[in-house]
Order: sequence, then structure tokens, then C-alpha cells
Amino acid sequence: MTAIRGATTISQDTAEEIRTETARLLSELVRANSLDISQVLCIFFSSTQDVTAIYPAKAAREAGFVSCALFSCMEPPIAGSLPLCIRVMIQTEQKIELPKYVYLNEAVRLRKDISEVINVAIDGPAGSGKSTVARLLAKKLNILFMDTGATYRAYALGCLRLGADPADEASVAKVADQISVDVTYDGTQHTFLNGEDVSDKIRTPEVSMAASTVSKIGFVREKMVALQQEVARKGSCVLEGRDIGTKVLPDARFKFFVTASPEERAKRRFLQDRKKGGSESMEEILADIIARDRQDETRAISPLVCAPDAEYVDTSNMSVDEVVSCLLRKIQEKI
Ligand code: DC
Repeated sequence: MTAIRGATTISQDTAEEIRTETARLLSELVRANSLDISQVLCIFFSSTQDVTAIYPAKAAREAGFVSCALFSCMEPPIAGSLPLCIRVMIQTEQKIELPKYVYLNEAVRLRKDISEVINVAIDGPAGSGKSTVARLLAKKLNILFMDTGATYRAYALGCLRLGADPADEASVAKVADQISVDVTYDGTQHTFLNGEDVSDKIRTPEVSMAASTVSKIGFVREKMVALQQEVARKGSCVLEGRDIGTKVLPDARFKFFVTASPEERAKRRFLQDRKKGGSESMEEILADIIARDRQDETRAISPLVCAPDAEYVDTSNMSVDEVVSCLLRKIQEKI
């Protein structure tokens, strides 16, 4: 079962406006969450004391919610609260991993964090823990998480499969029209190469290095950046990568540069790999991290740099939870 919240306001206490705004609020909630009305169990409304012309529950029944239980109640007076406000909570049998809350009219002020599109850009070098942090942060904020590195990885896998050399721009150009990368979300990101879900196949050391190499090519970046910007345009999300704050979303509301010393990053990756049964030595991992840093930082197009307006976070002596809480606090302070 899932509970979904929303609210709206009316400009005057008339039956007509209560009907129109209640119907609009419900239809926006249905649309945003792909709700199946037959699975809605009940809807609770609460309204401020100045909403009296008709019950919002009656308006909901008239708007087509004929088979679920409906409740309306009046809120106690709260000093400074929004006038003429109708709040709603829908309980549905559908399991919705990331319910979308809807706030309309003046009620937007109640939840600015979820009624505005918020993009959080997290950049940093390989192994800095930014993926883990970005994923957890997105979960806490109840918004989408986009792993942009996965798009370069899928592109690199496409090159390798087609026998193109990721270091040779002309060789990649020859196969470019046979490589199509896409992403979908169902709580987690799925990355597709020519329609095949390659989310797991792109996590090999060979693909890691090929992704770093192929990401130096201008036309590859243009394609991947356009895909990433489209995801960000559709709704609030946390994006992590190398050039999010500088190139993909230079206007992102929140920008962080998450890093740690190469040794600390190698240690983290070593422990992570061991858990998965990996056999690379600490020295090999450190060498790989240093090589990738050099390649990502020195490439001509969109090198890995901390955007001047990004917050620099050195996580060498911080746990994952500490980093997530730190970023969350900084975001909440600004919202
Ligand atoms: O974050 P990752 O390790 O999955 O990224 C793989 C490579 O893709 C990385 O070495 C550089 C490149 N990349 C990039 O150039 N820009 C991004 N926004 C993300 C990744």
C-alpha cells in the first residue's frame, strides 16, 4: 500500500471552486503517479476552517472516485497557516516506489522542496563514493538518481563489441550510428545499449577504462550530455558524474564536488571488490585510479574540475552516512 500526499488552495469559499480545485488536485495526483482509480482504497481530506461551502469529499465523489471511502475533516486553527487550504492523502493498494506529491496554487509554499524541480549535481573522481552518496541522497529526498557514468560505460561497451578502438576517434565515428544508449527508471536506473539492459555488464575494469577513454571524444559527450539533460529536465534528480556542475547542469541549484585521497579511494574500492569476489590487488586498483584521474582531469573537453560554485567535500575521514547527512543538511538549509 502507498500513501500519497498533496494540497491546494482556493481563492474563495465557493462550492464551484472547491469542486474544480479538488478535481484538479486529484487528477494531477492520478497522472503523476499513474494511479489506477480502482485500486484507491480511501482518500482523506483536511481543510482549513474557512473551507465550508461543500466537503472536498463530496467534490471527489462527483469527480469520479465512486468506489473508495472518502473522509473530510476540518483542521484546528493554526496561527500563520495558509488560508483556504485543502490537503489530501490518497491510500492506494498500488506499490509505488517513489510517490509523487502534488502541491498546487499557494500550497506550493508548503512543500517547496517537492513542488519545484530540484537538481543536485555531484561530481568527483573515480572511487570517491559519490555514486553511493548520490544514490542514498536521492532516496532521502525521494527523487530520481542518475548515474551518468553508466551512459559512457554503455557507449564504451558498444565500441568494444563492435571492434572499435575507444582511443581512436575515427574508429568510434565509424560505428557511432550503430550505438544507441538509453536509461529507464523503476526505482533504480537501468542502462540500455541498443535495447539490451547492460546495467551489470558495464561494471568491468575493461569497460571502466574504455569509458574514461571514449568520454574524451566530443561527439560522444554531446550525445550523452543531451540524454542526461533530458532526464534532469523531466523532474527533480540527483546526477553524479564528472562534469554535471560545469557542463550538464551549470544552473543546478545544488552542486557538490565529492572527493577523497587516491589511497583512500583505492582502499574503499578494494574492500568493495573483495566483497564481490574480485581479485585485483590494492596496487593494481590504486594504479587504475591514478590513471583514470589523470585521463579524466587532463582531457581537453569537460575535464574533471570542481565548479567554482560547487561545495568541495573531502570524504577521506567521513563515513558514507556522514557525507549523506552533510549534503542533506546543506540542501535543507537552502530550500
Ligand atoms: O563514474 P564512472 O566511473 O562510472 O564513469 C566512467 C567514466 O565515464 C569515467 O572515467 C569518465 C566518464 N564520465 C564522464 O566523462 N562524465 C561523466 N559525467 C561521467 C563519467
